[in-house]
Amino acid sequence: MKKVSKICCIGAGYVGGPTMSVIANQCPEIQVTVVDINQERIDRWNDEDLDKLPIYEPGLKEIVGANRGKNLFFSTEVDKAIDEAEIIFISVNTPTKTYGKGKGQAADLKFVELCARNIAKVATTDKIVVEKSTLPVRTASAIKSILENTGNQVNFEILSNPEFLAEGTAVDDLLNADRVLIGGDDTPSGKAAKDTLSSIYAHWLPKERILQTNVWSSELSKLVANAFLAQRVSSINAISALCERTDANIAEVSRAIGTDSRIGSKFLNASVGFGGSCFQKDILNLVYIARSFGLPEVADYWEQVIIMNDYQKKRFADHIISTLYNTVSGKKIAFYGWAFKKDTNDTRESAAIYVADALLEERAEITVYDPKVSEERIYADLDYLETRSPEENRRLLKVVKEPMQAAEEAHAIALLTEWDEFKTYNWDTVYEKMLKPAFLFDGRRMLSKEAMEKKGFQYYKIGQS
Ligand code: UDX
Ligand code: ADP
Repeated sequence: MKKVSKICCIGAGYVGGPTMSVIANQCPEIQVTVVDINQERIDRWNDEDLDKLPIYEPGLKEIVGANRGKNLFFSTEVDKAIDEAEIIFISVNTPTKTYGKGKGQAADLKFVELCARNIAKVATTDKIVVEKSTLPVRTASAIKSILENTGNQVNFEILSNPEFLAEGTAVDDLLNADRVLIGGDDTPSGKAAKDTLSSIYAHWLPKERILQTNVWSSELSKLVANAFLAQRVSSINAISALCERTDANIAEVSRAIGTDSRIGSKFLNASVGFGGSCFQKDILNLVYIARSFGLPEVADYWEQVIIMNDYQKKRFADHIISTLYNTVSGKKIAFYGWAFKKDTNDTRESAAIYVADALLEERAEITVYDPKVSEERIYADLDYLETRSPEENRRLLKVVKEPMQAAEEAHAIALLTEWDEFKTYNWDTVYEKMLKPAFLFDGRRMLSKEAMEKKGFQYYKIGQS
């Protein structure tokens, strides 16, 4: 088995950045270089002020601070890093296609293909190429054919090593991974490559948690794991709607079914809907793959998870509108939270975006407060929808840095992200600042109905009548 001394990762995003920082931290003898074509992003990874890192993750800045400049480097010199490394991780973005065949469902592999072509052009020694980005099944074979047909007679082994880190807990998920999946060919050289990559993770994980499979199983498992998790959220959200019509309480139902050891208690929190870069994208991929293999029933089955999620977001927005006497036009609605979940500044597919869009269509005036998401990001998310002009978005929606400022003269507050700090607010003060009746819509089930009603709020929480 090859002893690894240098690895590189193409793409310094939510996956590449934290994963490589943890590898560098756990493997002091390996030099880890993370490269990206985005100069600004790399500059921020190199910023002396660790609070300026482009990604917020609990525990990340400490790890970057301890290893950067020693065996962890961030750079835009992509070719140099590729040439020097024995293992190259591909961790670039794979957004859902916004054009052409598979539009709205298939993953756009343009960035991955560009990476593969670049590796083929630059490499002068044998390489192990690891696909780390969330990719649809069969991507490894595409990478392989590009590398084999345009390369410089060097040998490439392609491995699939999907990440299972959840944002907000990425560092901990990496350090205490339930399992690491390494997919590769069952040829002698494929097996050797799998062993080489396994040896990196074996620095800190017990052997039985490092699972070796064939490439297809590994690629598909990633999509299936996310589809199953998302399905649980959509399932409980479906039941939350039913609870609101009956006297059942979703918290009690979640607890009752979660204590069945066959079901388990995780991922049963009803919410305003799941978000994030993976769930929707991976399910759409699964749907697309199933359909393209002539399996419409399989495709429809999984698509329903997304339909349910869209319904939950819409239902929340509709409930705000109908409660505010069927009109929100000109009314100030404060949003607490914009990120797709707590402890991250990532907003991809966040429910808040779609709830805001629905309310803005009704001419509401929204004021957003989120402890970690920037103003530019919020406007970029809305502009991306192209529902209305950027000027209109900036006129109707304001971003503030103080939660109390958001509450000032607000008709209603909507809780969209479960940031811990929301629990610690002095809600009496919030109440005083608002117009009366003061409506509070809790999309994350964070506060106590009884306590909030006692303070005077008209309080609604997802899943409770
Ligand atoms: C997910 C997977 O968990 C991870 O393994 C994979 O590698 C990437 O995708 P992530 O998107 O970071 O991670 O977040 P996750 O914690 O899974 O939450 C996804 C969404 O579901 C969030 O919007 C969250 O708020 C929501 N959710 C989660 C619920 O609404 N209820 C729950 O009970 C759990
Ligand atoms: P993820 O959540 O998958 O990590 P991000 O969008 O956060 O996704 O990060 C992907 C990163 O990959 C971006 O910073 C982007 O600039 C980078 N990237 C995309 N294509 C290339 C490429 N050909 N070479 C180097 N970096 C790239």
